[in-house]
Amino acid sequence: MSSSNAIIAKDLTKKYADGVLAVDHASFTVKRGEIFGLLGLNGAGKSTTIKMLSTLVPPTSGSASILGFDVLKDGIEIRKRIGVVQQLESYDRNLTVRSSLSLYANLWDIRRGDILKEIESLTQKFGLRDVLDRKIRWLSYGQRRRLQVAREFLHKSDLLILDEPTVGMDVLARHSFLDYCRETVKEQNKTIFYTTHIISEAEYLCDTVAVIHHGRIIALDSPNDLKKKYTNVHVVSIILRNRADISRLSGDIDKIPLVQKKEEITDSPGVRIVTQDPFAFMTEFAKIVESESFEVESLTISEPSLEDVIVQLIGNEEQQSLDEKEKRLRSVSVDMRSS
Ligand SMILES: Nc1ncnc2c1ncn2[C@@H]1O[C@H](COP(=O)(O)OP(=O)(O)OP(=O)(O)O)[C@@H](O)[C@H]1O
Ligand SMILES: [Mg+2]
Repeated sequence: MSSSNAIIAKDLTKKYADGVLAVDHASFTVKRGEIFGLLGLNGAGKSTTIKMLSTLVPPTSGSASILGFDVLKDGIEIRKRIGVVQQLESYDRNLTVRSSLSLYANLWDIRRGDILKEIESLTQKFGLRDVLDRKIRWLSYGQRRRLQVAREFLHKSDLLILDEPTVGMDVLARHSFLDYCRETVKEQNKTIFYTTHIISEAEYLCDTVAVIHHGRIIALDSPNDLKKKYTNVHVVSIILRNRADISRLSGDIDKIPLVQKKEEITDSPGVRIVTQDPFAFMTEFAKIVESESFEVESLTISEPSLEDVIVQLIGNEEQQSLDEKEKRLRSVSVDMRSS
């Protein structure tokens, strides 16, 4: 297959039998050799998109081509060529890690002579060496997740579709998994389509991210370009001298209407806020400092993280749909009055 695209989705839509519109005209292209992240809140439509791309549920309308094959017509061809990790766990709990991986290697027609070497190397990469001969039922949740993900890296598929692969992995396992993904993509020219709730992880890993909200793709770009597009958001970090003043400061900041997001800084006595107007915020903040006599150690303005941008994007979408609802309600009440 010569196309430079691994996935082309056009107006992909899924309406479940009970009327839930889970995915609504989603269009995106994933280039070969790229790591593509689909981000969104619970219930946004990520897993449904993954199920359509991996041919587990058919789209209601629209189309998707996977490695040049059509999801509606070529299910078998697609399933032969892709590795999929679903959100739900799936394995024979009575097998050991070693036998489960060997079984998979055989299913995927890996050369007998290579199986042992592959299992050695993968279990090393995924931190499963110590539990190779343990039954899956006795593994911890994070170990089972690592096994489920490792299994899909065993076969030499060109495209991996992973639904929240890092859920349950501890911080070290997550970091080594992310680095492994990067390495594998580069060395084997694989393509990875994946979902996560950890936006900093997507910022580190992905070449492109799509934000899905109520089934609709509301943003699609590289993490850097997405941040550049929304440079109207800024982060102000305020560090105080005295940790005891933090909760008072936090309460005062809540009264400033310009603040879109606020969080306490963990490693120093401070607060980090996101605002569209940092200078107007500073004017308000100066008044607080004066009246409350806080001792400010430092105050810095910086660019937002991808997470800040996405929170802002989703907030804007929610506000827009609230405004539209209100407009509709107003026009209904005007109609009723005039009739
Ligand atoms: N089989 C189904 N029948 C009816 N509705 C469903 C079905 N599967 C999912 N949904 C609904 O479709 C919407 C999208 O669900 P989906 O599982 O795709 O979300 P998600 O983005 O993966 O969420 P999460 O982050 O919680 O995994 C939700 O409102 C969900 O309740
Ligand atoms: Mg999901």
